[in-house]
Amino acid sequence: MTTVRAFLAHATGRPSEASGPPRCPAREVWTLGCHVLQRPLARLLAADANEPLNPADEARWRALIARRAQGEPLAYLVGHTEFWSLTLTVTPDVLVPRPETEILVEQALGMPAIDGACYLDAGTGSGAVALALKKERPQALVAACDRSPAALAVARANAAALGLDVAFWNGSWTEAIAARSCDLVVSNPPYVESTDPCLDDDGLRYEPRGALDGGADGLRAIAALIPAAARVLRPGGRLLIEHGAEQGGPVRSLFERAGLADIATHPDYAGHPRVTGGLWHG
Ligand SMILES: C[S@@+](CC[C@H](N)C(=O)[O-])C[C@H]1O[C@@H](n2cnc3c(N)ncnc32)[C@H](O)[C@@H]1O
Repeated sequence: MTTVRAFLAHATGRPSEASGPPRCPAREVWTLGCHVLQRPLARLLAADANEPLNPADEARWRALIARRAQGEPLAYLVGHTEFWSLTLTVTPDVLVPRPETEILVEQALGMPAIDGACYLDAGTGSGAVALALKKERPQALVAACDRSPAALAVARANAAALGLDVAFWNGSWTEAIAARSCDLVVSNPPYVESTDPCLDDDGLRYEPRGALDGGADGLRAIAALIPAAARVLRPGGRLLIEHGAEQGGPVRSLFERAGLADIATHPDYAGHPRVTGGLWHG
């Protein structure tokens, strides 16, 4: 029987031949090992590493490394990810929340904190944005929708696990919301062009197509969402939408056409235009 240390040395060492077993970066091998053996990284890498690794655990660990090497997202393999310092359960029914989506939360927190303000996260997926907002603004009424019932089940479970009170419902964008009743609408809608080869790349091909595919020009969901969101904003209310790095210009035009004002696009951490916001003056 091998030891944890010997397995790690083998799985993270340099392949001795080109046709060796599938590989992934050392940190990911560690993360998968922590998941399989249910122990923290410090114990995996320290004293416990001399322990024998039982064959069932070794087989599971090996299988996960092989799936990761095929491009399956690490978050799906371990069943969770971090967003805005919240640990969220993720399954293949939801997009894995991305670090750049934290820009949406940062921009939303620029709104004054008002008791009873009503926030909507349209297309909530795992609930990431809605839950981050509720954590930071407990005095706000936070609602979130998704057209995918399977995604909503994940979002609801995340809210329950975190003890955060968000009202979830199944439906399209703002269809269930009364006109002029929201102070903030945030959304990270699907915005990848249907023919973009990245949809079939490792990583994205494992994620729900309905969370990514924005139609022929990538703007189908965004174009439907913007006027729908403008309809539900109260005077002084704000719309914030995440979009592709090349979509800032068309998105600002759609904001203007919907009657929004004070329109600005904010960069992500890599400096790419990523989130556009605008105000409904009434
Ligand atoms: C890019 S994912 C974003 C998920 C999550 N907000 C995040 O940032 O991780 C887009 C989400 O919008 C949902 N969606 C797509 N079309 C929708 C529609 N017409 N109404 C409501 N939700 C929709 C998808 O099911 C998916 O969960």
